[in-house]
Amino acid sequence: MSTSQPHGGQLINRVDLSYNTTAITQEIELDAFALSDLELLAIGAFSPLTGFLNKADYERVVQEMRLADGTVWSIPITLPVTEDKAQRLQAGEKAKLVYNGTVYGVIEISELYTPDKQKEAENVYGTADTAHPGVAKLLERPDVYVAGSITLVNRPEKEQFASFYLDPTETRAAFAERGWRTVVGFQTRNPVHRAHEYIQKTALEIVDGLFLNPLVGETKSDDIPADIRMESYQVLLENYYPLDRVFLAVFPAAMRYAGPREAIFHAMVRKNYGCTHFIVGRDHAGVGNYYGTYDAQLIFGNFTAEELGITPLFFEHSFYCKKCGNMASTKTCPHGAEDRLILSGTKVREMLSNGEAPPPEFSRPEVVDVLIRGMKIAVASHGEV
Ligand code: ADX
Repeated sequence: MSTSQPHGGQLINRVDLSYNTTAITQEIELDAFALSDLELLAIGAFSPLTGFLNKADYERVVQEMRLADGTVWSIPITLPVTEDKAQRLQAGEKAKLVYNGTVYGVIEISELYTPDKQKEAENVYGTADTAHPGVAKLLERPDVYVAGSITLVNRPEKEQFASFYLDPTETRAAFAERGWRTVVGFQTRNPVHRAHEYIQKTALEIVDGLFLNPLVGETKSDDIPADIRMESYQVLLENYYPLDRVFLAVFPAAMRYAGPREAIFHAMVRKNYGCTHFIVGRDHAGVGNYYGTYDAQLIFGNFTAEELGITPLFFEHSFYCKKCGNMASTKTCPHGAEDRLILSGTKVREMLSNGEAPPPEFSRPEVVDVLIRGMKIAVASHGEV
């Protein structure tokens, strides 16, 4: 049995597919972001949350990275509606949560409040710059937050890679079935390149299993699409990983690009999925130059090991060193920058979309093949990636 306890002690389950919503007249229209939060709340990925945050929880999360009761929580999970809509809603009533004409959930409204978004941006994202994709998203969404416990009454359709969607109860059971007592979680929104592989396998030297848990919810338009990534993860695992020590499942959350705060959030969620350890490398969940390379590691120092309940494994910037003839990091390699193969994400995307293969020291050839093919199809069908 995995030794990890859910965050807050108990795995939340608010899925009730037999819930009858016909008597509820109020409706709230969700965006894709809120729909994914609704499902993650319901399946317990966001335990101990049972719904969208009330004002007291929200304010303490923004201010101190804690819920009102002191539990560590770093990212506000909120349900924004327009002022116009808010005027037609009341605390104490229920509303159906609708996306594209389908009812997915019900909220028992406990409160409506107007957040200080400027403060939310500065505290959560570390900037109020509207060029930051997380801040842009925050500001683009409506201005009043609806709080309350939710119930998921309908599971969103999984169009692709359906077998890789597992709820925390299912991943926990899968880890237990394999006899893993320690499991390291790996978050990614990118293809797995050699640096990622290196830190995953280094971690795998000391724990029983690796939970490869790519985020497949909303990402910014220049990130590589999830379907292409999923195919690349599968060829990578088949060719280079001991299949009895790795478990692949998707994380259907939206990317916030909140760097350090999102690293804490990612760790808490992976704890709910059953992980005992969590990898935090360079600029985790970062974007542009908003965060220092190791800020997402330093932030863990604000909390005690007991409060976190999952052990973060920190890794230095890793690369292939030509002199060492190995993957390495500044912790293990004495050579200079001229011997190190380091390519930026932008450079790699540019190479792939030109059909040019990054070297095998950077990315496995099987992965590169999938990415080049996938990028061609994506460009042909969407005009851009
Ligand atoms: S993230 O936004 O999902 O964090 P990414 O998929 O690039 O982005 O990173 C996944 C994990 O690998 C993060 O913990 C990140 O810090 C780490 N990572 C990415 N590249 C490197 C690298 N070259 N060296 C060390 N860690 C890295």
